[in-house]
Amino acid sequence: MSFYSKTLEASYAKQLDKELRASHAGETGAVWIYRGALCAEFILSLFKIVRSTSETTRFIHQHLKTEKHHLDIFENELPRFRGSFILPLWIGAGFMTGFIPRLLGENWFFYTIYCVEQFVDTHYENQCCQLVMQPNPPSNVIDRLKRCQMDEQHHRDEAGSLMAKKTSLPMQLWGHLVNAGSSTAVSIARFI
Ligand SMILES: [Fe+2]
Ligand SMILES: [Fe+2]
Repeated sequence: MSFYSKTLEASYAKQLDKELRASHAGETGAVWIYRGALCAEFILSLFKIVRSTSETTRFIHQHLKTEKHHLDIFENELPRFRGSFILPLWIGAGFMTGFIPRLLGENWFFYTIYCVEQFVDTHYENQCCQLVMQPNPPSNVIDRLKRCQMDEQHHRDEAGSLMAKKTSLPMQLWGHLVNAGSSTAVSIARFI
């Protein structure tokens, strides 16, 4: 193998490591979004503020199960990568992204999930496009990312269909914040 192809291969391996780290951080955050939502549901029920509909509770539990499965794929089925050094930050951010909107109401919560999953769908799409362009595309990685992406698309559509009311201006501002936060988190997690 020539020096040039060795250097190129090392650079692709480094790139893959970055991408897997960023998505692993995202899937960790996703698990904690639903844990945050469950915590908010518990608080709401404790103070008997609003009773959650069984549909919302089912949604949270079902999505939590899928996000745990995604995390398991990253931790056990994909090539080894260095995890983000600031995983606790992504856990905290994920928790608040589920906790705050769930406290504010079901419509806020479903809209937040819609925004998050819309972002994640695009994120996986970009990653798969990048990986496909490599000289030796890692099909084991691409297949699994695509599988996760399909689940996220389903999550997005389901959340959108469960929104009972139109989005208010504060909700839209929150949606922008969630998008900007997700984008910043991915950029940072690629490196640390
Ligand atoms: Fe996921
Ligand atoms: Fe998801």
